[in-house]
Amino acid sequence: MSILITGGAGFIGSHTCVEMLSAGRDIVVIDNFSNASPKVYERVKTITGKDFPLIECDIRDEAKLDEVFAAHKIDAVIHFAGLKAVGESCRMPVEYYDNNVGGTVTLLKSMKKAGVKTIVFSSSATVYGSENPVPFREDMKTGGTTNPYGTTKYFIEIILQDLVKADPEWSVCLLRYFNPIGAHASGLIGEAPNGIPNNLMPYIAQVAVGKREKLSVFGNDYNTPDGTGVRDYIHVVDLAKGHLYACDRALSVKGCEIYNLGTGNGVSVLELITAFEQASGVKIPYVIAPRRPGDIDASYADVTKANTVLGWKAELNAFDACRDTWNWQKKNPNGYDD
Ligand code: WQD
Repeated sequence: MSILITGGAGFIGSHTCVEMLSAGRDIVVIDNFSNASPKVYERVKTITGKDFPLIECDIRDEAKLDEVFAAHKIDAVIHFAGLKAVGESCRMPVEYYDNNVGGTVTLLKSMKKAGVKTIVFSSSATVYGSENPVPFREDMKTGGTTNPYGTTKYFIEIILQDLVKADPEWSVCLLRYFNPIGAHASGLIGEAPNGIPNNLMPYIAQVAVGKREKLSVFGNDYNTPDGTGVRDYIHVVDLAKGHLYACDRALSVKGCEIYNLGTGNGVSVLELITAFEQASGVKIPYVIAPRRPGDIDASYADVTKANTVLGWKAELNAFDACRDTWNWQKKNPNGYDD
């Protein structure tokens, strides 16, 4: 019995490979390496002491996917593969719909042919849009996404829900991630963004290591305690463990289930800067800049359902995530590039 992990060389995917292998699961990993490094393979093996197949495969390549399903006995798929940069998605919407939505449809066709009907999908809190009050609960209205990246996640959720309606043999688990940060405590795997980071944590880390001069805090006039945006930052190792619970659950219960994966705590931009400074001992210079279009005041999860039904709970906090990000960033200032 093996679990196929698409996008398994990426940030969340690689940490999930580690947690799955450490829990004694067999995995088969595919990645097209468009935004991930093949070097992840050796590092995951070093951390876990276990080997696994890593196959270069694009999820839009149906023939290649069919070969993977024919060569391995796959019981379930954890589906991470996709493009994930919000700004880029506004400039290249067709590529985003092609990779994320088209790629998922192709994956589902191949799964169906192979008789594999269990899938855990990497969705996002972005599907809650800007109208819901915090904390976000799984039964709240979704949609109203403000960029093509978010809309691809919303569309894929609908496609998977339709699939379960049409064929109750399918088992679908939609995981809505809040803001994944941190790195494995070994410092061997972590987030390695291309070019200028879009997200707060990798930007702070690059300022700390001297690659960027200062951070721009996008707005201090939000309706939050200190005026800066509030988010639910979840340690990537906790997030990865959530997949283990979700996958076990999906293998035992049919239908479509939805879970928020977050900590349930809101942390502001200024609080995250302070946590990073305390964890690293490095001062982070910043300036207050205008709001970034599309940003909302606050986003954090109601985690009751994941806690009670999945039996999963985030154990690490923002300080832990800052410490582990700093450890990774110091050891790998250029990510996986030498
Ligand atoms: C967090 C906070 C910014 C950068 C995005 C996607 C989401 C998900 C995770 C990705 C906000 C502020 C940021 C900076 C800042 N998907 N900020 N200066 O926007 O909550 O979520 O990433 O794969 O779908 O939308 O995360 O880290 O970009 O921003 O002040 O240089 O930090 O305004 O309040 P976001 P983020």
